[in-house]
Amino acid sequence: MIGDGTAPEFGALEGSMRDFRYLPGSDLLTRVDAFYDWQQARRAAGVWPLGRSTELGAHSRCTARTDEGALFEGVNFASQDYLSLSSHPAILEVAIETMREFGVHSAGSPALVGNTSLSIALEEKIGAFLGYDHVALFPTGWAAGFGVIKGLVRPNDHIVMDALSHACLQEGAQAATRNIHLFRHNQIEGVRQKLAKIRASDTENGILLITESLFSMDSDTPDIAELQQLAHEFGATLVVDVAHDLGNLGPTGRGFIEIQNMLGKVDVVMGSFSKTFASNGGFVASRGRSVKEYLRYYSSPNTFSNAMSPANAAIVGKAFDIVSSDEGAALRRKLMDNILMLRSLLNGCGLETYGDPSAIVCVKMGSESLARLTSRRLPALGMLANLVEFPAVPKGQARFRLQVMARHSQHDIIDAVHRLATAAADAGEDQRALDEGAASLASLAKDRPLPVKLPTPAGDAAAPLPQAPAAPRRGSIAA
Ligand SMILES: Cc1ncc(COP(=O)(O)O)c(C=O)c1O
Repeated sequence: MIGDGTAPEFGALEGSMRDFRYLPGSDLLTRVDAFYDWQQARRAAGVWPLGRSTELGAHSRCTARTDEGALFEGVNFASQDYLSLSSHPAILEVAIETMREFGVHSAGSPALVGNTSLSIALEEKIGAFLGYDHVALFPTGWAAGFGVIKGLVRPNDHIVMDALSHACLQEGAQAATRNIHLFRHNQIEGVRQKLAKIRASDTENGILLITESLFSMDSDTPDIAELQQLAHEFGATLVVDVAHDLGNLGPTGRGFIEIQNMLGKVDVVMGSFSKTFASNGGFVASRGRSVKEYLRYYSSPNTFSNAMSPANAAIVGKAFDIVSSDEGAALRRKLMDNILMLRSLLNGCGLETYGDPSAIVCVKMGSESLARLTSRRLPALGMLANLVEFPAVPKGQARFRLQVMARHSQHDIIDAVHRLATAAADAGEDQRALDEGAASLASLAKDRPLPVKLPTPAGDAAAPLPQAPAAPRRGSIAA
C-alpha cells in the first residue's frame, strides 16, 4: 500500500507483486482491482509473462498459450520435469494400470483411510533410498514444507531460517511462531550467532533450523554438514528441503546430501515429487516413528487434506525405480551435459548465469524493465521461459529461470540460447528507444511481437507460427 492509503498505480514496466500485497480499502473484492489494472497495463504492453499454459503438456518443445489466449510454439525451458519422466513409457503404463485397478482418487486423508498399499510401499521405498526409517507423504511438496514446520513448531519455539527459503517454508514458519530469525543466504556465521543468542536466553524451547539443499533462484547450496553440526551444538533440529536436486543430481541421484556425504545424517529431510518424480506430492523423512506419527495427527495437510492419489503414488514409486537404475544414471548424465552446454553457450553470448551447475540455470537480466522487454519478445521468437522478479529475487536483479530437462536435445539448447540472446539484444534497443524518447511503450506495444492469436483450437494446425529469428546481434554462439 502506498503511504497515504491510496491504491498503487504503476506503468507496465514498473512496480512489482509486492506493491499489491497490502491494498487499501474495506471492500475485499473491489480493492483488488488495483492489481488487475496493473496486470492489464502489462498485458496491453505485452509484458505479462505469467499464467501461461501448455496445450499438450510440458514437453521440451511445445505449443503454449498466454493467459490472453494467444498461442505460440517454442522450445520449453519453463518446466521442471528435470529427468523428463512425466512422459516416460513405464511411468505412463503404471499410471494407467493403477487407475484401472485402484480408481483415480485416494478419498481420504492419511490420518483416516487415504493411504493405499501403493503409498505405504512408497514411504518404505523413499526411506530406503534416503536412509531413514520413517517417511510421511503429503499431497504436495508445498504441504510437506508447510506441514513439517507447522506440525513440529509451537509459538514459544524458534525458527532460524535462510532468508531465501521457499514460500512454503516461510509461510509454515509464520503460521507456527513469531520467533523467526532469518539469516543471510547461505551465511553460516550468521546461523551460529543467531543460535547462540537464542540459547543464551532460552534453553526451554525448541529451535528448527531450516534450509534448502539447492536454492532455485540462485542455483547454490549451503554447507549442510556445518549446519547439522551447529544444530547439534545448540540443541536445534535441522530440516533440509531437497525439492530441486533429489533424483537428478549426485552419483546415485541423492542430490547434494549425497554429494556432501550427508546421507542419513540430516535430522529431517523434506522434499517434493513435482520436479523429478513426475507427480504432485511431497514427503518428510525422519529417523523416529514418533515424528511421523506426530505429523500425521498434528500437521494439518497430513490430517485434514486427502492423501496423494493411488496413481500419483505408483508414478512416484516407478520414478524412484528409474532414478535408482542405470537408465536413471544415464538420464542424469544427459541432464548434466545439457546443463553445462546451456551455461557455456549462454556465457559465450555474454549472458551471465548464476550459481553452480544444476537443472536450474538462472540468466542475469538486471532491471525489471529490461527483463520484461526481453520476455515480451520471447513468444514470437519461439521460447517459453520463466521470468523471475522482485520480490522472488532482490530489486534490480531480475532473471530468467531456465529449467533444463534430460530430453532437451542439443538443438533445443542452441535454439534457446539463440532466441534468448536475440530477445535480450532487441530489448536493449527497445529500452534505449524508450530512454531516449524515440519510442513510447504504446508505440512499441503497437508493433509488439506478440504471437499470432489463433481463432479456435481446431484452427491451430493450419495457422502460421512466428518466423524463426535472425542470428543474435550480440556475441556469437559456438555450436
Ligand atoms: C524449494 C521448494 N520447496 C517446495 C516446493 C513446493 O513443491 P510443490 O510445487 O511440489 O508443491 C517448491 C516448488 O515449487 C520448491 O521450489
